[in-house]
Amino acid sequence: MDTVTAPLQVTLIIGSNRHGRFGPVVADWLLGRLRDREDLAVDVVDVARTALPTTFAPGPEATAALAEITPQLARADAFVVLTPEYNHSFPAGLKNLIDWHYAEWRAKPVALVSYGGLAGGLRAVEHLRQVFAELHAVTVRDTVSFHNAGASFDDEGRPKDPTGPDAAAKVMLDQLVWWGTALREAKEKRPYDGA
Ligand SMILES: Cc1cc2nc3c(=O)[nH]c(=O)nc-3n(C[C@H](O)[C@H](O)[C@H](O)COP(=O)(O)O)c2cc1C
Repeated sequence: MDTVTAPLQVTLIIGSNRHGRFGPVVADWLLGRLRDREDLAVDVVDVARTALPTTFAPGPEATAALAEITPQLARADAFVVLTPEYNHSFPAGLKNLIDWHYAEWRAKPVALVSYGGLAGGLRAVEHLRQVFAELHAVTVRDTVSFHNAGASFDDEGRPKDPTGPDAAAKVMLDQLVWWGTALREAKEKRPYDGA
């Protein structure tokens, strides 16, 4: 299969790492949307399962964590980042994962899915756009957000009204595929050499 028709390699990053977190419920729904698509091949990095130090510590723990995570980021053509909102921004653990890497983000598209209280994590999303711009990544316009997330899902972990989120996910993932395919083709012709 040539790269034009090969599925886009997408890494889903689960951004919350709080004990008792709600994140896996949203992540399971999102994984369903991603795996439904024949144009995507999906991989998952869960911040809660990474052991990246928050202080400079190039010891065996960091080395082992990076050995697992970095290749998953490097081989991605595109990313979907799932973030909750903590104190009007995204979690520190997610920022730590982002900051441990650089080249892995460059010239790749990022789709943002959020959840939280009244604001649905949208402030976290807008902060992430600034961070990814610095890393030469492009965030796609449309997002999926769950407002009052805990009340939006039933006891089986399904959205109580999936119509809106499913439609929003399709629009967002269509944009991600367009950008991911376009950038993959462009980089084959001309490697990205942004300063
Ligand atoms: C430390 C902390 C700060 C929070 N701050 C906000 C906030 O600023 N805005 C908001 O809408 N929700 C806020 N929330 C609610 C979270 O978005 C909500 O609990 C969400 O489920 C957290 O994701 P998690 O359960 O996967 O960790 C906060 C939650 C925590 C734990």
